[in-house]
Amino acid sequence: MAMKMVVPFFLFPILRLHFLLLHDHSPLIGNPEGTTCYHFVIIACHTRVQRNVNLEKLRTGYLFPEISMHELQHIRKYPDAKLINLGIGDTTKPIPEIISVSMAEYARALSTVEGYRGYGAEQGNKALRKAIAETFYKNVQVKDSEVFVSDGSQCDIARLQLLLGSNVTVAVQDPSFPAYIDTSVIMGQAGDFEEKSGKFGNIEYMKCGPQNNFFPELAKTRRTDIIFFCSPNNPTGYAATRQQLEELVKFAKANGSIIIFDSAYAVYVTDDSPRSIFEIPGAKEVAIEVSSFSKFAGFTGVRLGWTVVPEELCFSNGFPVINDFNRIVCTCFNGASNIAQAGGLACLSSEGFMAVCSVVDYYRENAKILLKTLKSLGLKVYGGENAPYVWAQFPGSKSWDVFDDILEKAHVITVPGSGFGPGGEEFMRISAFGHRETILEASKRLKGLFS
Ligand SMILES: *[C@@H]1O[C@H](CO)[C@@H](O)[C@H](O)[C@H]1NC(C)=O
Ligand SMILES: *[C@@H]1O[C@H](CO)[C@@H](O)[C@H](O)[C@H]1NC(C)=O
Repeated sequence: MAMKMVVPFFLFPILRLHFLLLHDHSPLIGNPEGTTCYHFVIIACHTRVQRNVNLEKLRTGYLFPEISMHELQHIRKYPDAKLINLGIGDTTKPIPEIISVSMAEYARALSTVEGYRGYGAEQGNKALRKAIAETFYKNVQVKDSEVFVSDGSQCDIARLQLLLGSNVTVAVQDPSFPAYIDTSVIMGQAGDFEEKSGKFGNIEYMKCGPQNNFFPELAKTRRTDIIFFCSPNNPTGYAATRQQLEELVKFAKANGSIIIFDSAYAVYVTDDSPRSIFEIPGAKEVAIEVSSFSKFAGFTGVRLGWTVVPEELCFSNGFPVINDFNRIVCTCFNGASNIAQAGGLACLSSEGFMAVCSVVDYYRENAKILLKTLKSLGLKVYGGENAPYVWAQFPGSKSWDVFDDILEKAHVITVPGSGFGPGGEEFMRISAFGHRETILEASKRLKGLFS
């Protein structure tokens, strides 16, 4: 029998803190981008079901809960300080009305006989698949049928892992968004976590930093079946150049690997860096692309994304990957919410597209302000030009020490780079997803701290 303790909501953060302090292996799961789920059950008795050993290996629930713990302690210490959060990678600006209105109208019509819709196509609404292909892949000839609409790229990454199974080997950029490694661990593709190196066994960590123009040294990279590659990158804010991506595609071809290319931040590219891996000739034979409406249209809560699986992409036995992905989507997912898809269609109308792009421009301007501020202080800063993240280096320092210093003295929350892998040590990720006043105030405080 499990004993459930009922606790008032307002007490959760405090209880959670004690719980975290008491228990090293916290059962609390931190959403990779910020909010924490409060699953709070105190267990009085056990079942006879063995815990999945792969989940036991995981190290997640570590970075973001740890940040909230520091935040809580800070609030207790300085109850009157005006804390600024530039840690979270969540959007803050309202969704343009033209888009929310179309979702509202769609939802309202569900209450009418004519407007009611039940299950839709598992792969997504036809018109939306077409609009995605035309908007984002106009010059690279992606077919509507190769676009699978989803409830977000993170969910698609998990479904792709399900498709790949536990037998594949995986490479990731180091640092990287935690979902690639964590899903790989959950699937059983990884070995144990090694405290000393800060890495999981059997995963190839491709270090990306200023020393190599944020692009892995492929000559030294071990062959893997799968290469996760995110550009523009979270957390470094760096967008790979055309030449770099050509090298990557060439490497994947030579090694018979599949690239899973995450282009969730593509709309933030301002120079001529590719916005899609399919801009690289030959990429369709070696790559899958996952992408999202989250950072493009503020859909982090609405939930909408897509994955492109080209028909040309095949397994070693010649079987098309798209057929298996379709099977996975039909079996494990029944299609994205039709209301969210109505919103997606509105984003891709010409008026809607202009509206979301102006929000993107706003965040871009924020990034510019942060970049300029940090540069003016003589700090080594990267990213920020093609992504809503600035990646600041503090040579010789530990990320967590810099995090604590900035929090203590400037009351600003950032993200310690080491949370994204050992390659992020010495770095801080600073998010540009804030309101302008907040960004300006944070810039002022950082100037005060570092000048
Ligand atoms: C994993 O690989 C081994 C060796 O190639 C093979 O025998 C086995 O069937 C594979 N398992 C799965 C689930 O694909
Ligand atoms: C992977 O590709 C690189 C670059 O073309 C090549 O040097 C290397 O030998 C390949 N590795 C394997 C195992 O095929």
